[in-house]
Amino acid sequence: MTCLLAPAACAAPAGHKTTGHGHQQPKIGVTRGARSKVSAATAGMDGAVPLEPAIAPDAVINLELGDPTMYEAFWREVGERAAAVIPGWSGMSYFSDAQSLCWFLDREFEREVRRVHRLVGNAAVDDGYHLVVGTGATQLFQAAMYALSPAGAERPVGVVSPAPYYSSYPPQTDLLLSGFYRWAGDANAFDGDGHIELVCSPNNPDGAIREAVLNSESGKAIHDLVYYWPQYTPIAGAAAHDVMLFTMSKITGHAGARLGWALVKDRDVAKKMVYFVDRSTIGVSKDSQLRAAKILAVVSDAYGDDARLRLFDFARRRMRERWRALRAAVAATGAFSLPEETAGYCNFTKQTVAAYPAFAWLRCEKDGVEDCAEFLRGHSIVARGGEQFGGDARCVRVNMMDTDGVFDVLIQRLSSVT
Ligand SMILES: Cc1ncc(COP(=O)(O)O)c(C=O)c1O
Repeated sequence: MTCLLAPAACAAPAGHKTTGHGHQQPKIGVTRGARSKVSAATAGMDGAVPLEPAIAPDAVINLELGDPTMYEAFWREVGERAAAVIPGWSGMSYFSDAQSLCWFLDREFEREVRRVHRLVGNAAVDDGYHLVVGTGATQLFQAAMYALSPAGAERPVGVVSPAPYYSSYPPQTDLLLSGFYRWAGDANAFDGDGHIELVCSPNNPDGAIREAVLNSESGKAIHDLVYYWPQYTPIAGAAAHDVMLFTMSKITGHAGARLGWALVKDRDVAKKMVYFVDRSTIGVSKDSQLRAAKILAVVSDAYGDDARLRLFDFARRRMRERWRALRAAVAATGAFSLPEETAGYCNFTKQTVAAYPAFAWLRCEKDGVEDCAEFLRGHSIVARGGEQFGGDARCVRVNMMDTDGVFDVLIQRLSSVT
């Protein structure tokens, strides 16, 4: 392919459950981040949307989703260098390379994915791993369940994860009521024969570092490593599991690109995953892959030259500031608690560093409060309730990746809880 990347100018249907991440509509009128307050009158002279419009004192702030809008400030700073120009004639075919296993995977995107893993050292990307691209980790999670389900089984295999688990796992697993696999709940309570275990590490919602809890001889595991990047956790080593999922949404914040990738050890499993993506969406947007390749190249290049614009440094700094502010607010009110801070040696930063999870798993310690989500709604904060994660209603998950303005309002409001 030639000349594709120039550094130039540039609510669920009635009757359906709505617990899926990103699909659930807020139940009350909310300000999603600060975006809904933007109007033509507040746009800049050049028509560009200002970085962060003001948040009205009475606005409800929504920290329920995992929208990574914190990263926008970084990419604005990077500016044109991360712009991708895609000529009208390019990327038109369904195919990227008809001969390769993942025939819709753009070569440049693959190169940049492998490069960033090598830079960070978080996955054994060179040890014969096949790369499968998907429309977000979400599509690949479904492709992996499809590929790992035992052929010819009489009953669907049980899909499990230890509670608290990512709240989208149950509805995504059972969306189409597959005959191959079914959601079977908390892995710690499972006693069936075969299984597929979803191992999310660092875990959404509580940031815990996890290993599979069920025996690998009687089942399979899908390692959801979308938060295994240096801004969120010390990089302890190169993960080398059978199926590992990553996404642009959480490494660079480009959730809107809807682009994820799986590193898959076994060729036949990778082939089945490719088949799933082929049958469900006939591949993955070339435009998105080209844009993502450019963005990942900027991330990796920065660790060779321009130290001002280093993504992991920026995001780590922001997360550290936010966690400090949140812990201070929680300690001051006494109304809440958080999981203990953990630390470890990071092979990427070559330092012992604390973990700064993408979500805060906040527990309400006030007497008489059984439902923390409801309690916070009374303070104009929307957070996702603990039962949706198979956990305790006294806990909520709070997004730590929203804009500075929304995060500041969160801290003010939590601090005022007595
Ligand atoms: C643990 C986990 N896995 C997967 C996803 C989905 O990622 P994507 O945006 O790539 O579909 C998310 C998104 O929040 C997540 O938290």
